[in-house]
Amino acid sequence: MNASPLQPAQTQDAPAGTAPAGTALYGGVTNRRVTVRDLARAKRDGERWAMLTAYDALTAGVFDEAGIPVLLVGDSAGNCHLGYETTVPVTMDQMVMMSAAVVRGTKRALIVADLPFGSYQESPAQALHNAARLMKEAGVQAVKLEGGERSARSIELLVEAGVPVMAHIGLTPQSVHAFGGYPVQGRGDEAAHQLLRDAKAVQQAGAFAVVLEAVPAELAAQVTEHSAIPTVGIGGGPGTDAQVLVWTDFAGMTAGRVPKFVKQYANLRATLAQAAAEFATDVREGAFPGPEHSFN
Ligand code: KIV
Repeated sequence: MNASPLQPAQTQDAPAGTAPAGTALYGGVTNRRVTVRDLARAKRDGERWAMLTAYDALTAGVFDEAGIPVLLVGDSAGNCHLGYETTVPVTMDQMVMMSAAVVRGTKRALIVADLPFGSYQESPAQALHNAARLMKEAGVQAVKLEGGERSARSIELLVEAGVPVMAHIGLTPQSVHAFGGYPVQGRGDEAAHQLLRDAKAVQQAGAFAVVLEAVPAELAAQVTEHSAIPTVGIGGGPGTDAQVLVWTDFAGMTAGRVPKFVKQYANLRATLAQAAAEFATDVREGAFPGPEHSFN
């Protein structure tokens, strides 16, 4: 079933615009946070869902109120929020601070936080140590890490310890320097087989969902068809169970070109720039503050 992110999902028995409590991601789960069980149920029912990134309490609260069921405190904060060129410099302390803000700003969304580069690759024990920080200090309900077969042992240990894990395969931005950029992944037989092996490995290790980034649409659809866990596409075409976008891209805050897979739903950069310019003009010309903004 297709569901627009901002509208409650319909079920056969529910009147238009409503869904039985607890049975749909959009509109159904209102008095508690969405859980990984809700997402497993959505996969079984064929209910699609949307995920957005968030890095602060204010924007996270807006997306939560709009009904986005899953928010990702992505390490894309590196280039989209903190002014770095890539995600590589992002630290655990920064992730904990941003994740705690997103948790504080929301009531309903499942909050997933990225384990940043260097915080889990040493060993499964290191992955567990840092995942526990995100859960205990920030209060997130799940973590995400990059890698398929290469990260399977860490996923297994985290899941055994009670940490829900979202995996991330295909284009994994923490490997930008190894890839030499952000090329589409999974093209050609060998690369496609590797992606299928990665998807299988993370599912077997116990991940509750898997992000497929920048892979051909047909391959993403094939992975989705064979996957018992939800697939979350970003540049993976329309055939995945869920879709994620980086919020600064989807809202038109990003300067310059955005990737081909981004649809811009607003032009916030232009709106904010115009507001700032008008404010500056008003101050320069003495038009602000007026009597209505002043105390007697
Ligand atoms: O960090 C991030 O925002 C991500 C998404 C692109 C999936 O990993």
